[in-house]
Amino acid sequence: MKAEFWKERWETDQLGFHQTETNAHLKQFWAELEATAGATVFVPLCGKSLDMRWLRSIGHPVIGVEISPIAVCDFFKAAGIEAKTSASDGGLVRSSGGGYDLYCGDFFALEAHHLADVRAVYDRASLIALPPKMRERYAKHLAKALPATVSILLIALEYDPSRMQGPPHCVPASEIEALFGAAFEVERLWSSGPQEASEYFRARGLDASTTTVWRIERGTTHRWT
Ligand SMILES: C[S@@+](CC[C@H](N)C(=O)[O-])C[C@H]1O[C@@H](n2cnc3c(N)ncnc32)[C@H](O)[C@@H]1O
Repeated sequence: MKAEFWKERWETDQLGFHQTETNAHLKQFWAELEATAGATVFVPLCGKSLDMRWLRSIGHPVIGVEISPIAVCDFFKAAGIEAKTSASDGGLVRSSGGGYDLYCGDFFALEAHHLADVRAVYDRASLIALPPKMRERYAKHLAKALPATVSILLIALEYDPSRMQGPPHCVPASEIEALFGAAFEVERLWSSGPQEASEYFRARGLDASTTTVWRIERGTTHRWT
């Protein structure tokens, strides 16, 4: 999936993935990570997600990365924050303000020093936005760039891939385990079981899908001081 594909979606306002309320699974399962209030949270492929505002509201500094400058600009505008912008390495542009640091640029350009303070990660519609080869690269890059002690809350989607072409892509449990199992402990926290697809997906040919929620972690987790 090329950067241009996503940039065009933002330019033409094709944002079916954007939620106008905080994600219910984030609210329900965030406590499972046992992240302390001051722990920095990384939100990869963040869009202009309101979930970042919820994470901030419970005390987390938030680092995001997003390829579209429109998304970053819209996020700060909606939050009523005037961000300060500076150039970072890897061609990334950092916009900071209100406890948010959003890097505009390619996720794969982020290095360990950008994420050194991160203790938790929230992935909603990020892994599943990517095609198979890129998902492998994404998981490897997270394993390399994240600190030794970290917990990830990941929301994934399963469906009959013959019915709909992603994104969002179908990422079954076996793939999540294969992608992250070598570097992390992987635990499925919840599965919705097959549910009638939303109107957005029904219009694309899908009748049912299953949402899964995962805790993926490594290091001495659960107790951060
Ligand atoms: C499906 S959207 C999900 C956005 C957000 N996580 C949410 O829940 O609303 C995927 C986002 O990833 C961004 N994106 C895609 N490839 C990227 C990359 N290589 N680096 C940074 N952002 C990327 C897109 O612009 C898009 O905003």
